[in-house]
Amino acid sequence: MDSHITICPSTLYTGTPVVLISTLNADGTANLSPASSAWALGDMVVIGLENGGQTLSNLRARPELTINYPHGDMWESVESLGDLTGASPVPPHKEDRYRFESDKFGVSELTPQQSTSVKVPRVEECPLQLEAVVEKITDGVGDYAIVEARVTQVHAEESIVLPGTQHIDTRSWSPLLYAFKHYFSLGKHLGQRPGVA
Ligand SMILES: Cc1cc2nc3c(=O)[nH]c(=O)nc-3n(C[C@H](O)[C@H](O)[C@H](O)COP(=O)(O)O)c2cc1C
Repeated sequence: MDSHITICPSTLYTGTPVVLISTLNADGTANLSPASSAWALGDMVVIGLENGGQTLSNLRARPELTINYPHGDMWESVESLGDLTGASPVPPHKEDRYRFESDKFGVSELTPQQSTSVKVPRVEECPLQLEAVVEKITDGVGDYAIVEARVTQVHAEESIVLPGTQHIDTRSWSPLLYAFKHYFSLGKHLGQRPGVA
């Protein structure tokens, strides 16, 4: 007996960390957008971005970014950016839901913080912040591109770092997760790989 049933869910967002990506607009101001299609391997972060968004056009023109990981309790700030785009005019496929906003830091009440290796600001309220430089953008099979960026600097709030080490204190670190368009924070600690700090 198969206990599974066949379904057609509206999304396949199974539950990945949310990041806030900041990029530089042509006029030198900063854009800020939520994304959840991002993962890391070594010092590379790979991000899936829809065509037509301001984040992707900024990265094609100015290949620097910051990748900021909000704490779980910041979900409402993230959501306040959900229907905004820094693209003007708003791309036709987004017109029904999205509106243009030039000051996404202001709208979300988040604070730009100067970076150390890129010109793009970090998000001060995010406990974990990565500065990165784009190395490759590949057009996807669907209406998206795959951005590969090398991390040039990592900033972690002292409260999430194990004292005297380079390691994140996983008991203090609670990323915001996005599962089937619902926001969650981490559940209980289940275990760890032997020999891993
Ligand atoms: C929690 C969350 C996660 C999202 N993840 C992605 C993503 O991984 N890739 C993407 O292209 N858009 C994602 N979006 C949608 C973009 O944030 C949205 O298209 C936004 O308008 C992009 O802004 P921009 O045009 O200024 O770049 C996500 C939105 C939310 C609220």
